[in-house]
Amino acid sequence: QKKLPASLSAKFQDSFAYLTIKDRMPVILTKVVDFVHRKKNNLGPEFGEDGAEDLKNIAGHISKLRYEIQTDKPVVPLEDDRSDTIIWNQILEKLTNENGNEPPKWFSSAWLYLECYMYRRIQESVELCKVMQDFDVFEESKNNAFYSSELAIQTLLTNLLVTVDNIEKESDKKLSENLLFQQFLQVSLWGNKCDLSISAGMDNAQTSCILDQLQFLKDNILINDSSQIWNYINTKKGGSRIDIVLDNAGFELVTDLCLAEFLLSAGLAKSIHFHGKAMPWFVSDVTSTDFSWTLKNLSATNNLAMSKFGRLWQDRIEDKSWVLHFDTFWTLPFDFAKMKSEAVELYKELAKADLIIFKGDLNYRKLVGDLNWNTTETFETSLRGFHPAPLVTLRALKSDVVVGLKEGQGEETKEKDQSWMVNGNWAVISFCDKTI
Ligand code: F6P
Ligand code: MG
Repeated sequence: QKKLPASLSAKFQDSFAYLTIKDRMPVILTKVVDFVHRKKNNLGPEFGEDGAEDLKNIAGHISKLRYEIQTDKPVVPLEDDRSDTIIWNQILEKLTNENGNEPPKWFSSAWLYLECYMYRRIQESVELCKVMQDFDVFEESKNNAFYSSELAIQTLLTNLLVTVDNIEKESDKKLSENLLFQQFLQVSLWGNKCDLSISAGMDNAQTSCILDQLQFLKDNILINDSSQIWNYINTKKGGSRIDIVLDNAGFELVTDLCLAEFLLSAGLAKSIHFHGKAMPWFVSDVTSTDFSWTLKNLSATNNLAMSKFGRLWQDRIEDKSWVLHFDTFWTLPFDFAKMKSEAVELYKELAKADLIIFKGDLNYRKLVGDLNWNTTETFETSLRGFHPAPLVTLRALKSDVVVGLKEGQGEETKEKDQSWMVNGNWAVISFCDKTI
């Protein structure tokens, strides 16, 4: 068997991993501490003194974590009693053993593990609270990002409303549906530009109309397998279950819901299963609270399209044409090739899908193991056997790994845009329907 490439890591000083651990992660933590302090000063009386004490402890815990990162301290075990604590500590023990009894360190170990660990440590500070255990330190930024994109959301949902009305009336149904499928796939793809972790917690909302941008963004899709996906979906004759492994809340989530709505309305799928995070994750990832908050907010607006879909989507959850899952596996540091052994039930659940759509950069990193692949390596190879069902990734590039490119394509793109791998302006739609 061929040797696998090395894991991305801050030990490579010219890498995005290095930049992230040195600069971006401390900035994210500083923002959290600021927010927690502000929250503490405006805390409602119902939380009492314990609430204020909790927030003080969270801020202290997170400042300490930032210090540990900046001074390259060894990773320490978790001390809360969340259901996944044991597994996190077992992983740490295993990594320590493999590393000649040295625990992982921020500037030399695998980036994927460390970055996940950072978010789990933030959660640890919340788990240790007396009364604030449900607190989400990213809640405010997520909600603000939604409000800042409200106009773009309005325009998109108004378009969806017209589309859904027209679908029935079209004469050349298949042709127009194919075009609309491409459109909604690309809307969901570019929705991934808007995450709050790449912008280090700064507002990164969609403020203009995404549909107007699609034509212009088309040349930035480095791999576009959407015709294969279209052909594949059509072999299922509408009876299929499509799973969407979500990424960010805010505008991106709305684009994913639009894609889901289109698939159902056009009769291309029978049910959509969404997978979100069981705890706050990578700043803007969708939790169960974010999901219901979004539907509630949509349904409560004065805008016709927004409120209509807000209500319709709440009904879809009731009638089970939409099903929500929040498995703990997604917030563990494992790459997806480990799912078969580490999360047997989730793997079986995903295997029931006819197609799985993985959204975003972190899911991509986990698909390909966050390894330093040659850009011309095939997508199938990089998955290393992970194949619960045919799958597609919709991902804007925000970390320095990508596979499936043509010979010379990477170099060509770099000439046009030096930071093409990390600025979110380039994207891939890669499909895989076979395992190797
Ligand atoms: O901070 C690192 C990172 O994993 C980047 O690769 C990416 O910017 C972000 O976090 C997550 O992006 P996404 O929300 O698309 O998964
Ligand atoms: Mg994300």
